[in-house]
Amino acid sequence: MGGMLCYLCGILLIISYSAHGVKVESKIHPYLRHRRQTCSTSKFQCASGQCIDITALCDGSKDCDDGSDETVRQCSNMRCPQFAFQCSYGACVDAIAKCNGVTDCADGSDEQLPSCAKKPGTSICKSSEFQCKSGKCIDDTLVCDGIKDCRDDGSDETFEQCRNFRCSPLSFRCSYGACIDPDYRCDGRAQCADSSDEDPVLCGNENKGTCKLPDKPKDGKYKILNCKETDISPFCLQVPDTVAPDWTILEYRCDAGYNLIGAASVPCVEGKWSYSHPTCVQVSCPPLESSSVNIKCTYKGSSVLCGKDMAPGTVASLECKVSYQLTFEPGYNKVSCLQNGKWDKPLFTCTPVCGKRNPKGRPFISNGVEAKVGEFPWHVGIYRYSANGTLQQVCGGSLVNPSVVLTAAHCFWNEAYGRTMDKDNFRIAAGKYYRDWNIKDSEMQERQLSEIIVHENYRGRKLHFTSDIALVKLNVSVELTWAVLPVCVDWKDEYERFQLSNGSLGVTVGWGYTQNNEPSTELLTTNLPYVDFQTCWNTIPETFQSYVTRDKFCAGYQNGTSVCPGDSGGGIAFERDQKYYLRGIVSVGLVPEGDAKCFTDQYTAFTKVSDFLTWMEDNIR
Ligand SMILES: *[C@@H]1O[C@H](CO)[C@@H](O)[C@H](O)[C@H]1NC(C)=O
Ligand SMILES: *[C@@H]1O[C@H](CO)[C@@H](O)[C@H](O)[C@H]1NC(C)=O
Ligand SMILES: *[C@@H]1O[C@H](CO)[C@@H](O)[C@H](O)[C@H]1NC(C)=O
Ligand SMILES: *[C@@H]1O[C@H](CO)[C@@H](O)[C@H](O)[C@H]1NC(C)=O
Repeated sequence: MGGMLCYLCGILLIISYSAHGVKVESKIHPYLRHRRQTCSTSKFQCASGQCIDITALCDGSKDCDDGSDETVRQCSNMRCPQFAFQCSYGACVDAIAKCNGVTDCADGSDEQLPSCAKKPGTSICKSSEFQCKSGKCIDDTLVCDGIKDCRDDGSDETFEQCRNFRCSPLSFRCSYGACIDPDYRCDGRAQCADSSDEDPVLCGNENKGTCKLPDKPKDGKYKILNCKETDISPFCLQVPDTVAPDWTILEYRCDAGYNLIGAASVPCVEGKWSYSHPTCVQVSCPPLESSSVNIKCTYKGSSVLCGKDMAPGTVASLECKVSYQLTFEPGYNKVSCLQNGKWDKPLFTCTPVCGKRNPKGRPFISNGVEAKVGEFPWHVGIYRYSANGTLQQVCGGSLVNPSVVLTAAHCFWNEAYGRTMDKDNFRIAAGKYYRDWNIKDSEMQERQLSEIIVHENYRGRKLHFTSDIALVKLNVSVELTWAVLPVCVDWKDEYERFQLSNGSLGVTVGWGYTQNNEPSTELLTTNLPYVDFQTCWNTIPETFQSYVTRDKFCAGYQNGTSVCPGDSGGGIAFERDQKYYLRGIVSVGLVPEGDAKCFTDQYTAFTKVSDFLTWMEDNIR
């Protein structure tokens, strides 16, 4: 009975083993018979007499000390199930034993098949490792797990590699065969190398919307919010075209030296990226241009154009142009383009050198002294087209900056119509010595007028030449040279009380009529003393008095030295610290009846510049 039970017992064991897949044959009976002698029914007796469990027979591993359980003699008649691999001597082992780098058959036949042969020279991987196409070795357990561990070629996650891979029943099988944790299925993050775990059809969210990961931007990158750094799923590795679920948020950043153009944060909403993906553009500093500063730009030792955008690292050296000077010392003469596309310091401006004479001296002519070119570089001639089409000098003026001339309103006033004449009737010439327009002096600069601003209160003779002041804007600034420079304007009105004091000499310049009743062909200069208002008023004829309005001052002699028509609009400038400040504009004088063009025995009235500083400031801008 007991023997019978044990016999059944052995059968049951064998059957239970067969459930693992090895079909049991009648062959076992001889062993049983043999065993009967010393081993129990559920045991196999090794040649040595040792008893081993019957299930250990022909399973690939030598359980008998003498190996007699794994021999051709014992195993050659084994019939293995389809999914098992049969060792050369007949034992049955799991199919995955084949060429898996582990000796599963007692004779090693599972690893000696021709198909196990590795490419010559590349068998550098350990038996527990997988060799990527690139040659790299990765751990066997990383093959067909959804993650491309062969970073270069992904050869561990291919259909060829994984098609026959066996997944545990619980795992999710990617369409190319890899096995992943079932929790990853439709969790919104692709875990299969081909994203098949997030397939919208599979996940039933075709309509919910998913986006596809874009390529990383050139010269920048994006970060997926909620992806940990250690997460190396295709989604978190940002493999382009990987499915990204709604509310995936991409945060963009550009490399150093690049600026982000567009939205920095782009969410996927209802299957669409809410904004177009931003781009990274190289950071550059804006061009540097100045009319008063010479700028030289250098990048990595070679000079570059300053008029174009410049790369960070560019250095621009600054220097006032000729005839310009620093109003205040900025403390630097170089600016650098920073990584953020900004210049480290502002580009300063230089102001024109003003009121500087370049005296050369020339002999006395008539009652004035002939000036030389450059001696009064602020003085310009104002010319008007006459009926025969030639340009005739009608007035003078003073450059107060490279594009503005200060002169008298009456030069442009049409008394008959009570209005300002058209600017196109006029031309300006700076750097001129000869009165004749057609004599082209070497330093002459001609300009058209872009605007004539006559003081709004000026009404000509009607209001006794009150507010006899006008600003002329040039179509193009004059180029400042040694012979063309502005006069200084005492904008803060600091020195007038010193300069306009009884007897102090101012200098006037012009091509006015000489005592010979002819306009001078060359520029003349005269020094005239300031005369206090009361003295002037008391001395001049009554007819003239009403023209010396409160916005004027007098200067001159009563002995024949004077300014005359043609000098109108020109300035009277007073010196301080070798700089000439414009104080007055030749406005009115007494013109006698008869042939004489200029009544030379009288003072001349000048428009007082200091009364119009605010008006000038408002209108120059
Ligand atoms: C043109 O007219 C002006 C006066 O308006 C005169 O001085 C000049 O000589 C004339 N020129 C010619 C070429 O006629
Ligand atoms: C400015 O005026 C001068 C003199 O008439 C002329 O040669 C030049 O072409 C003008 N420039 C412009 C920009 O109008
Ligand atoms: C100013 O000078 C004039 C002439 O030189 C003289 O007659 C007058 O008295 C002086 N006035 C004052 C206030 O000094
Ligand atoms: C008038 O007086 C001034 C100063 O005394 C002198 O420089 C100038 O030569 C005189 N003019 C004439 C024409 O005498």
